[in-house]
Amino acid sequence: MQRQRWGIVLPILLVGVGLLIAAALNGLGARFDFLYRNVGGFSALQTLSRGVLGLSALAWLGAAGLLAGRMALQPAPWPRKIMLILPAYFLALLLLGLLMFLFHIGTTGPFAALWTGISAVLALVGVVFSAFGQRIGGRLRAIVQGLLGVSGGGVFLGGLAFLLSFILAMARGPAPVFAGRDRPFGEGAFPGAPAGAFRAPPGTFEGGPRAFPPGARPEGGFPFSPGPEGRSLPFRFFPSASTMAIGGGVLIALGILAGAAWLWGRRGAAGLGEAIATAPISDWRREGLRALAGGGGLTLALLLIAQLIPAPRTNPPVRTVVQWDPPEAQVLWQRACADCHSNETRWPWYTAIAPASWLVVNHVNEGRQAFNLSEMDLSQLPAARKARLAEEIAQVIRNGTMPPEDYLLMHPEARLSALERELLIQSFQEMLAR
Ligand code: HEC
Repeated sequence: MQRQRWGIVLPILLVGVGLLIAAALNGLGARFDFLYRNVGGFSALQTLSRGVLGLSALAWLGAAGLLAGRMALQPAPWPRKIMLILPAYFLALLLLGLLMFLFHIGTTGPFAALWTGISAVLALVGVVFSAFGQRIGGRLRAIVQGLLGVSGGGVFLGGLAFLLSFILAMARGPAPVFAGRDRPFGEGAFPGAPAGAFRAPPGTFEGGPRAFPPGARPEGGFPFSPGPEGRSLPFRFFPSASTMAIGGGVLIALGILAGAAWLWGRRGAAGLGEAIATAPISDWRREGLRALAGGGGLTLALLLIAQLIPAPRTNPPVRTVVQWDPPEAQVLWQRACADCHSNETRWPWYTAIAPASWLVVNHVNEGRQAFNLSEMDLSQLPAARKARLAEEIAQVIRNGTMPPEDYLLMHPEARLSALERELLIQSFQEMLAR
């Protein structure tokens, strides 16, 4: 009997861990896409790996959903019923996190990533318990095993493509010039990259030749940005290609282990066949309604607890005032940017309620940290900083990164027309050229 159980528990655990590792590796993927854009086949293999791992994740979620959903439908008196609901509840939180990524909600800061990461770990633990805590047989077992087989194979193949892409990359080396962002990067930014790889020959930038003061350490920007003020990932923590390749190897190993456990569990179950019947659920409707009620109660309780974690909404004194030219630019600025890049933030009622407050306060704080027109006297900035800010502003407005999409959902009036965008950009450029 134990073998039947472990035959499901082990694959779902191993594949789940593999998918978590894959998600973490993928979080760094975009940067590597750029670094190795000269390596033929690198991005194709990366795309393949992401696609296969995505399918694997879907299959895993399917199996997990069946197990957790069935657990939530088990009859039990109240306190225990809540325990039985938890795995499905965590899975629902995880799905919500994935939806946030799909719709770009909370992706400007760490909100969506933290939400998804934490709920993924909780869901994994919950699902392992739900695989362990119930007898699964017959058709349900066949379906769950089928899905787990697919997702285990996906982790193996996705890991293989991932590993191969980095072996290729290490053999060929990084692209010699960072033309995309028309500025070079510091030596030693990438461990293992050949010296000089990051020094662009003069005049080779897409944006035209550009002078840098000798010895200046370029401050970056996407995709290697330590941020204007050195906020995000410092260069020295950036993993090397070989670390990423090892990650691919770990995925392969987990895929193989999961496959072995899967076969072992299947062979064990084959002999017993129909003998391992799933414990029947007598009243689906009633138990379903109770599960929903339990989930609702849990949500209310969590929301109440969440309010205890404060996210202070601040509007520090305004120290600098900008002379806008033309005046219409100021209106655009207030409509689209001022909430996050000044100390004159409007705080709608929902920004007082967690978890929305966490997201919004984080946006505002990070936005102010990036640049804050209430606290910086633009005319006093060094010339290089002015030029860079003007360029960054033009870029983020044109490519639609700013204002962030989730902000636009709640503030449709902040959407700028093409004409308005150019007006705002131009006004900034003139202001920063003074
Ligand atoms: C919902 C809040 C919000 C609004 C509205 C907003 N920003 Fe931002 N902005 C941010 C955050 C958060 C960051 C920091 C992003 C990061 O670190 O990745 C940022 C960063 C920036 C940066 C620095 C970009 C970089 O490369 O680090 C610029 C420039 C910028 N915003 C311009 C604008 C402009 C112009 C507008 C109006 C059209 C605007 N923002 C509207 C939140 C906002």
